[in-house]
Amino acid sequence: MAETIECDLVVLGGGPGGYTAAFRAADLGLSVCLVDRRGQLGGVCLHEGCIPSKTLLHGTAFIDLAEQAAPFGFTFNRPKVNIETLKEKKESVIRKLTNGLDNLARGRKITCLTGTGFFKNKTTLIVKNRETTTNVVFKDAIIATGSSPFYLPGLPDDPRIWDSTDALSLDSIPPRLLVIGGGVIGLEMAQVYHALGSQITIVEMLEQIIPPADRDIVQPLFLHLKKRYQIYTRTRVTGIVAEEQCLTATLAGKKAPESAQFDAVLVAVGRRPHTDDMGFENLGFMFDKQGFIQTGPHQETTVSHIYAVGDVAGEPMLAHKATHEGKRAAESIAGEKVSAPSHTIPSVAYTEPEIAWAGLTEKEAKAKKINYDKGKIPWGASGRALSTGVAKGVTKVLFDKETGKILGAGICGAHAGELIHEAVVALEQGATAADLSKTVHAHPTLAETIALAAESVDGSITDALQAKKI
Ligand code: NAI
Repeated sequence: MAETIECDLVVLGGGPGGYTAAFRAADLGLSVCLVDRRGQLGGVCLHEGCIPSKTLLHGTAFIDLAEQAAPFGFTFNRPKVNIETLKEKKESVIRKLTNGLDNLARGRKITCLTGTGFFKNKTTLIVKNRETTTNVVFKDAIIATGSSPFYLPGLPDDPRIWDSTDALSLDSIPPRLLVIGGGVIGLEMAQVYHALGSQITIVEMLEQIIPPADRDIVQPLFLHLKKRYQIYTRTRVTGIVAEEQCLTATLAGKKAPESAQFDAVLVAVGRRPHTDDMGFENLGFMFDKQGFIQTGPHQETTVSHIYAVGDVAGEPMLAHKATHEGKRAAESIAGEKVSAPSHTIPSVAYTEPEIAWAGLTEKEAKAKKINYDKGKIPWGASGRALSTGVAKGVTKVLFDKETGKILGAGICGAHAGELIHEAVVALEQGATAADLSKTVHAHPTLAETIALAAESVDGSITDALQAKKI
């Protein structure tokens, strides 16, 4: 017989959006039930996304670091890799963070249920696993069911055709790896496998890799990768034939060969919201044109006591956007004053060099016909970048011509994913070029490039010649 439990709030999905919402709601005094199919909290981000990929990227970066030491007079033999140790390191990081989340949930007396959730109606979620069925009767619900990889139709069912989860498992290192999609997952995984010895081919259907970022920000990365990988932009994979020895891909693109052979293929062409088979039709809320759950300013759906957060509630599909939304949804349900949603969600590609951007890109500013000033500093002008061997970077900051306020920033280079947060705070605070240029930055740092970009706009730059006044 099914057990019935009652709670103020049920949260479906235990990833960053779901567990953050559950934790915040419990701290605000609600009784909370948190449901996930996986026996552990953390979702895709912790188990097969952000965290394992960052561990692998850090590990494999030692191979490049050994080479980069040569101009400083230090030479090493190419490091030997023990894949089993690397895998164990990845698993140990996941274990540590998973245990941390379990403790945080237990400490808050949250009821965690393992099983698949299905909404029977607007007040009952049925949670089933192999052994038990539980009816969770709730007052409010937060849906945080995330997303799953988008599959290209027509590809053969073959274990050598991977999604990102397969790629993270490091079960084999293919001599020739085709990566379909030059976005963040494709490029991060390409970097790991290249370091481990795979020959990499990237096929991207649009005109540049990491299409949402400005071309000039991506260019230093592209030039770096072009020396190492075969990259075909404006190219599509039109088919793959699985043979015993290899996978033969047919390509359509001006500069691409008609066909090429590979030992494995990673499909990384985006993700889609996870909304199927959970009884959402019994709740009656609306979806937008892309299939995301439509939400209002507090993350509420069109059914007022049901909320949605994270990947299932719209782009960008990023863990930090999910946690931000999870907190706001929980605060709204608990009757707290809810802050306005943040439009400044930074994006980071953890490639070598890193790419990061926040606020408006230059192409978005142009498309919106916004009048802007641009400060752009190549890292060859930075003492810190030169002295640490990372001069192939660039920092660009855009300011509104009328108000002087920062509109957006893009950075390519070492630690770009950390540096971008100065721009994020400036964006949230509505800082101007003068505010940034008058903020004293430590010397020598890479962060100075942001101040220099601002100085070049407000006319106070001394580290470069002033642009001639007409
Ligand atoms: P993505 O949207 O970043 O990149 C997919 C790429 O594939 C795009 O450049 C697209 O133009 C291309 N593409 C689509 N169809 C294609 C086709 N048929 N042939 C060739 N190219 C094609 O998606 P990705 O890399 O799969 O990542 C999925 C999600 O996960 C993203 O929303 C991303 O933000 C998130 N994520 C974020 C990470 C980070 O913050 N560093 C790391 C990993 C994932």
